[in-house]
Amino acid sequence: MTLAIQPLAGLRDAYGRVARDLRVSLTDRCNLRCSYCMPAEGLAWLPGRTILTDDEIIRLVRIAVERLGVDTIRFTGGEPLLRPGLAGIIAAVRRLATADGTPPGTALTTNGIGLDARIDELRAAGLQRVNISLDSLDRQRYAALARRDRLPEVLAGLAAAEAAELRPVKVNTVVMRGVNEDDVLPLAEFCLERGYELRFIEQMPLGPRHGWDRSSMVPAEEVLGRLQQHYRLVPLPGRGAAPSEDWQVLDGDGRPRGRIGVIASVTRPFCGACDRTRLTADGQVRNCLFARTETDLRTPLRDGAGDLELAELWQGAHLTKARGHGIDDPGFEQPERTMSSIGG
Ligand code: 5AD
Ligand code: SF4
Repeated sequence: MTLAIQPLAGLRDAYGRVARDLRVSLTDRCNLRCSYCMPAEGLAWLPGRTILTDDEIIRLVRIAVERLGVDTIRFTGGEPLLRPGLAGIIAAVRRLATADGTPPGTALTTNGIGLDARIDELRAAGLQRVNISLDSLDRQRYAALARRDRLPEVLAGLAAAEAAELRPVKVNTVVMRGVNEDDVLPLAEFCLERGYELRFIEQMPLGPRHGWDRSSMVPAEEVLGRLQQHYRLVPLPGRGAAPSEDWQVLDGDGRPRGRIGVIASVTRPFCGACDRTRLTADGQVRNCLFARTETDLRTPLRDGAGDLELAELWQGAHLTKARGHGIDDPGFEQPERTMSSIGG
């Protein structure tokens, strides 16, 4: 006898974690070449016919929301703003209803380039939050690490997000030794002044092969040490499943300045509380950034599978979710895909 998976039981894994947060990568392409993510020459992009259409994405998101208990959708890439249908996808997602009858939450992780031109359209479609990647405020350094001289456009995108009241605007910074450690304090000050929530991210082995080694990674503890030379940091409770550990920042006189977080994926992994599931631009479910296997939904989808069948495949994908990312295990192997084609 085969055991049927119960529909509507959600995306539960063998360790009791339940995924409610879906990250959808809309494209593996990007207009930057951040060194921790892509090689200078770029990557072999996914073939166009393998990329899910807008309607296919909307259908899979609907299944996740209606049948699998997903309540928040984050759109990522590559660079999701490169997807022409982005606003239409967001609008369709906002018309769905989660288990409690409300529309799913929506967020966008972007490098910010071109966001100013599209922010009104995206907001009208129902976008609620943005995370903008910004690794340096120094134009030359930005150009060196993103391999494109586009900092002014990123800053315009940030300002537009703030003006559109997509608050709190969140900023992601990957700290790299010998590259942008000196940006920690200027970035902190820049974000605190504007009310942006800055999060410093530990670099993970998800970029070009052999481009990561633990000894050169800047641990969150070190970033916090730099911040503590200038500010008082008071830990904020209530982290839940969020990757970031947040701190209330006070200046020397004890005046509150805002909030800063660290995402210590490597030194203080948060896998035990993970509530995430991922869909790649070519229709593969990944139960973890570091998963070594994927579950193909594109083929059954295109072969005419029904919603229930697709929901069950997605549930099955979660049963094999590993307890942790295993970066420190002796046998650790980096996944085949880089961050740009998994979706952050
Ligand atoms: N390690 C940590 N963070 C990364 N990002 C991309 N690649 C890596 C990596 N190897 C970040 C980007 C972006 C988010 C999607 O993930 O800076 O903010
Ligand atoms: Fe593009 Fe983001 Fe990768 Fe940078 S980290 S190259 S912005 S996908």
